[in-house]
This record gives sequence, C-alpha cells and structure tokens, in this order.
Amino acid sequence: MGSEIRFLLNGSETRLSEVGGSDTLLDFLRLDRRMHGTKEGCAEGDCGACTVLVGRLHEGALRYEPVNACIRFLASCHGCHIVTIEHLRGKDGGLHPVQQAMVEQHGSQCGFCTPGFVMALYGLWMQNPDPSVVEIETALQGNLCRCTGYEPIVKAARAAAQAGGQAMDALSLERDAVSAWLKAVAPARIEVARGDDRAILPRDAADLALVLAEIPKRRSSPVRPMSVFGLRRCSSASLLRCSSATFLT
Ligand code: FES
Ligand code: FES
Repeated sequence: MGSEIRFLLNGSETRLSEVGGSDTLLDFLRLDRRMHGTKEGCAEGDCGACTVLVGRLHEGALRYEPVNACIRFLASCHGCHIVTIEHLRGKDGGLHPVQQAMVEQHGSQCGFCTPGFVMALYGLWMQNPDPSVVEIETALQGNLCRCTGYEPIVKAARAAAQAGGQAMDALSLERDAVSAWLKAVAPARIEVARGDDRAILPRDAADLALVLAEIPKRRSSPVRPMSVFGLRRCSSASLLRCSSATFLT
C-alpha cells in the first residue's frame, strides 16, 4: 500500500502524503503552490474559471481533458498529468498561439474568465486542428464569460486553429516522456490523510470491496455517491464518501 500520491504538475513530479479526502486541486494550486493563473469563480463547477487540463492514459494512449479544478479532489490526481495556464508560456516568455489569438480577436475584457477559456480551447486545439463553430461551442459549454461575449472568443478559437503550430506545442513535444512517466506509476492502493480527513484510492473495483469490508464501522454509515455535479469535467473517476474517508475509484 502506498502512502503518497504522485502526479506531474506541468513539468515537475509532485509527491504528497498530507492530503485530505476533501482537498481540492484548485486550493492546492492557488494556496499551496501560489499558482494564481488558475482562477476561482463559483467554486462549485459552474463557471469554468478554474479549468485545467488533466492528462491520463486511456488504453495506453495519453489523452487530455478539461477539468474544473474546484471540484476535482486532489487525491484523485494520482497518476495524472496536471497542466495549468502557466505551462503555456513559451521558452522566450511569449504567448501561446491560443493566447495570442485571444488578444488579437479581443476575446478578453476583465480577463477573469480568460485562463479557463484558454485552457478549454487549448484542449480542443490539441485534439482538433480545425474545429467547426459547433465543435468550438461544445468545447466551451462549461465556460462562462460575463463581459466580453462569446463571438470574439469563438473567432479566437478559429484564428488559433489557423495559426497551426501543434507539432511544436509543449504537450506534443513532452508526450512520450509524460506517457512513460504515467506508465511507470505502478497500480497500488494509496492511502493519504490530513488530520482525520482521509482519502483511500483502491487499486481497482475488487480492492474497493476489500476496503469497505476492512472498515465495518464506516460501512454502517450511509454511503452516498459524490460528484454527481460537474461530471463532464470531473473525469471518469467515480467517488464514494462515507464517514471521514473518501474512496476514489
Ligand atoms: S471556480 Fe467556477 S467552475 Fe471552478
Ligand atoms: S472577460 Fe470578463 S468575464 Fe470574461
């Protein structure tokens, strides 16, 4: 059994053992790491201001999905690649093509929603070099903007696609190294805690059954499914909570 979670945060490996079952990825980024590029708006999975990309292996292939960091439990990031807006900065400090397009198409006014839009568009840009307007609108359906309006943002998405450059993008260049790192994270049950707040990550469904059997007292508490809200951006992890422990499968 492991006693720490491991994940890649942009270009660095991160290991944490003091993690509560209710700790969120957004609080970790902003309060612990002081990475303030990822914004907190609603803090309940509605506005998309906190969007980051989470890379995971799906049948051996690396796939990135936009995720609302405010409702993503930190413990569930074990074995993932977390990509934040800070990772888009070029080696020369310049803007990423998606950011440049947002500037040129006037896609930002107050700017509070902008990092979330950029990350959602970045996720789309990596997978689809030439998205249609409908595909852009679908990719942005979890992001709200209250002052610019959506037309310039959709125009920015089209302009970013025309700028090309996917082959030279940071995540494309890192893909092999990131895949190798993720593959090397051996499957195991992980248990971490902060005070009484515990998170148990079973190795698989069979291990979840064992965990529940090992904690008979907690089984007597009603077990209710969590994170029924925001599932689209909560990735495929399913979460169960009973008493003071959260189980992530
Ligand atoms: S802060 Fe609004 S979705 Fe996360
Ligand atoms: S630019 Fe102000 S909320 Fe979007």
